[in-house]
Amino acid sequence: MAVARLPPASSLPLLRLSPTRRPIRFFSSASPPPQPSLPPSPSATQPHRRHRTPLFLRPLAHSTSPADLKAFHSWAASLALSSAASHFSHPSDPEPAHFLRELRWLLQDAAVGSSVDPHLFFSSASSSSPTGGSTAPVPLRVELGELYGLWKERVEERRPLQYLVGCEHWRDLVLVVRDGVLIPRPETEALVDMVAEVMAAAEEEDAGIWADLGTGSGALAVGIARVLGEGEGGKVYATDVSSDAIEVARINVQRYGLEEKVEIRQGSWFQPLQDVQGKLAGLVSNPPYIPSNDILGLQAEVGRHEPRLALDGGENGMDHLAHLCEGSSLALRPGGFFAFETNGDAQSEFIAEFMSTRWRTYFTDIKIVQDFAGVKRFVTGFHQ
Ligand SMILES: C[S@@+](CC[C@H](N)C(=O)[O-])C[C@H]1O[C@@H](n2cnc3c(N)ncnc32)[C@H](O)[C@@H]1O
Repeated sequence: MAVARLPPASSLPLLRLSPTRRPIRFFSSASPPPQPSLPPSPSATQPHRRHRTPLFLRPLAHSTSPADLKAFHSWAASLALSSAASHFSHPSDPEPAHFLRELRWLLQDAAVGSSVDPHLFFSSASSSSPTGGSTAPVPLRVELGELYGLWKERVEERRPLQYLVGCEHWRDLVLVVRDGVLIPRPETEALVDMVAEVMAAAEEEDAGIWADLGTGSGALAVGIARVLGEGEGGKVYATDVSSDAIEVARINVQRYGLEEKVEIRQGSWFQPLQDVQGKLAGLVSNPPYIPSNDILGLQAEVGRHEPRLALDGGENGMDHLAHLCEGSSLALRPGGFFAFETNGDAQSEFIAEFMSTRWRTYFTDIKIVQDFAGVKRFVTGFHQ
């Protein structure tokens, strides 16, 4: 019998559940919002056609009245609060304050650039007006009806906000993401810092050839390419087996003008890199590492909506990690650096031990590195 399990404490980093890059004020939910009846919203109950362009990149081609936008906010906050009250059953379920923070992000993406200050929707001061008292139409990047539909998907289907708005803030980047591609996690940002440290220590003029295996949205490849800098030397190969990932990684690489620095190749792990075998100065990977039986117990946003291909690491979660250890022995040049993300403590310990024993003739200086939550998240080392 399949048993739905809660993820262990040191499991896949959860979707971003705290305010981070977005410059927002903290909102207190002490004063509950009014509970209006549902305003007319033709598409609120109909699935909308999924838009390919991220919300923040769409033109302000729509508009609504301040009163209707305020009614949307009241309805959306009320839906989130009632849902959080009725569904709270898993430690990783979003709390009301988190939903409300995301509602603010949604409004920011939908209306930034217009005269609306979405912060003011959250003010407990009843005299505050989000449009500064104006009754002029508020420009929007979506029809108001679509906002209702998006928010229902967020709250009722637990679809990650990042998929709904089409982007994630990661390091200093705003990356396009969409269904079929893993949403990059804050923990993974540390891999870019590790690469930067290794490059700084090497003090070589030419940063050499790097690889991001299982690139997903291209987050690591873009981050590393920016660390490589403007110069002639240095290149990143970003590989993934998924066509969705390849498409999105290409968009992100182009958005940051890094086509010269990042080459995207489709295929399984090292297979697309045969022509550079033994030449890599370094490689990073955040491979699928969740044990297959744990996928059912993941946070709904992850288990129901993120691609299984990006999550499932086989029976013990380490199928891909073991393959990456073996492949790195051939792919890296002497002195080449590797850094892998893992599911956490036990997996990191196992992989570090595996590389120090089974592959000891190939690797040296194997280390386990903690993430910002103190979880032993990464295994790093060098080729002999
Ligand atoms: C956990 S996600 C990481 C994505 C991205 N690097 C990040 O950190 O956000 C793992 C990625 O590995 C890719 N992947 C799965 N199996 C693969 C394979 N056999 N070869 C290459 N990539 C694979 C998935 O498509 C997914 O994009």
